[in-house]
Amino acid sequence: MQDKIIILDFGSQTTQLIGRRVRDLSTYCEIGPYNKFPFDDPEVTGVILSGSPFSVYDEKAFKTDLARLRGRLPVLGICYGAQLMAYEGGGSVEPAPSREYGRAILSAVKGDDPLLKDIEVGSQVWMSHGDTITSLPADFKVIASTKEVAIAAYHVEGEQTWGVQFHPEVFHSKCGTQLLENFVVGICGSKKAWSAESFIDTTVKSLREQLGDDKVVLGLSGGVDSSVAAVLLNRAIGKNLTCIFVDHGMLRKDEFRNVLHDYECLGLNVIGVDASAHFFKELAGVTEPERKRKIIGKGFIDVFDAEAHKIKDVKWLAQGTIYPDCIESLSITGTVIKSHHNVGGLPEKMNLKLCEPLRLLFKDEVRAVGRSLGMPEHLIKRHPFPGPGLAVRILGDITSEKVKTLQEADHIFIQGLRDWGLYDEVWQAGVVLLPVQSVGVMGDERTYERAVALRAVTSTDAMTADWAHLPYDFLAKVSNDIINQVRGVNRVCYDISSKPPSTIEWE
Ligand code: XMP
Repeated sequence: MQDKIIILDFGSQTTQLIGRRVRDLSTYCEIGPYNKFPFDDPEVTGVILSGSPFSVYDEKAFKTDLARLRGRLPVLGICYGAQLMAYEGGGSVEPAPSREYGRAILSAVKGDDPLLKDIEVGSQVWMSHGDTITSLPADFKVIASTKEVAIAAYHVEGEQTWGVQFHPEVFHSKCGTQLLENFVVGICGSKKAWSAESFIDTTVKSLREQLGDDKVVLGLSGGVDSSVAAVLLNRAIGKNLTCIFVDHGMLRKDEFRNVLHDYECLGLNVIGVDASAHFFKELAGVTEPERKRKIIGKGFIDVFDAEAHKIKDVKWLAQGTIYPDCIESLSITGTVIKSHHNVGGLPEKMNLKLCEPLRLLFKDEVRAVGRSLGMPEHLIKRHPFPGPGLAVRILGDITSEKVKTLQEADHIFIQGLRDWGLYDEVWQAGVVLLPVQSVGVMGDERTYERAVALRAVTSTDAMTADWAHLPYDFLAKVSNDIINQVRGVNRVCYDISSKPPSTIEWE
């Protein structure tokens, strides 16, 4: 039995953050769509209702079966979740006179309420709402207020039901962790039994039961997720796991050789396939970003499939899918900006059973599991790198000469970040080769060569990102080194756009 909190997702940007905070308490939770509550699951100890981009009175607003939830299990509504319970119970929710956004201070707190244990008047909370609760149903009692928001938190008398207008999951709510702990541990009684070690123990055991003596293949990318999945599976089933690492020719300088060596040192049974010639041929003359992605995605599947068929009696395909990839997202607009899941078609094509041992973990939990498994820090802290690799960092068509130029410039930048102790401070970094030539002067010679852009961002989840404010001295050194050492480049720019409105990759 594993205690679990269910977080019902009404489409808020911060739903995953609620999940992270609950896991940070060493308690386990799962996020599910607002209208799919696992009523038959005996392990559930409580429910959190998330925020939402909708107003409760919108025609399209997401609704859930509150009558079945309330009274059955402890419930905490956050923002929209709180408004929904108040509204459906007969209270009123109206547009706030002005959108309330930012820090607020609790000016009144009902100290003996279990949700507010150890939270005092003067505690900072974070507000972000367009609507506000203006009146409560009779049995709903106010338990906290701020200067602007009279009903900042409420409790339903005779029930284990609470609502908060502010966002305890956001870092700026200084008392947020305490409030979530009061709910999850104090009120719901969830045990603090979730850790990387406990995850490894139970997962290794269940993988052995699930897989028995079956053979499994897994595609390695060099990234954290697939590497941790491989090491975990290796611990569970050893040589019955075969890993395949495909070089599509668009990797970083020496990446294929170095990472293959790392994998071998970790004791993995790994096959390295150099398929770069095939990819260069397929990509020749292609300039459109989505076409590049499609070609690389399909090529990868074909190469992987051919290799996997050389192994006898494979029954399973393992993947390093992690939780944010699986949470059924409530796409409000449905617009595809970039098709990131480039090997999404692999399971169907291969007709194998799917094994995804990390599918319930957040990224930093994956890293913690990797560390507990004894993996080296440089593998665990590796920056994210897009599946199509340098292909989406060469604007315009791709040639092997352009890839080499970019690899050299990228190597100088990344090695520089490491040498200056800046690598771990940025979420990801790389160099982009621009389809632009510009005039320069070297010695007495006029040059007419390529321009590159350096890109480095800070982020927590790649959904939003800011350009990294790297020191000028560092940028100056990297610029000099690239222009002096990389043939064919005579100009270096630094990309100072944030996401949104830009994206991290240029293509
Ligand atoms: P954007 O450019 O959309 O990138 O801001 C967000 C994150 O996704 C990575 N990315 C990709 N990853 N295949 C991948 O596996 C792709 O086609 C792809 N495109 C972007 C990007 O590096 C960043 O971490």
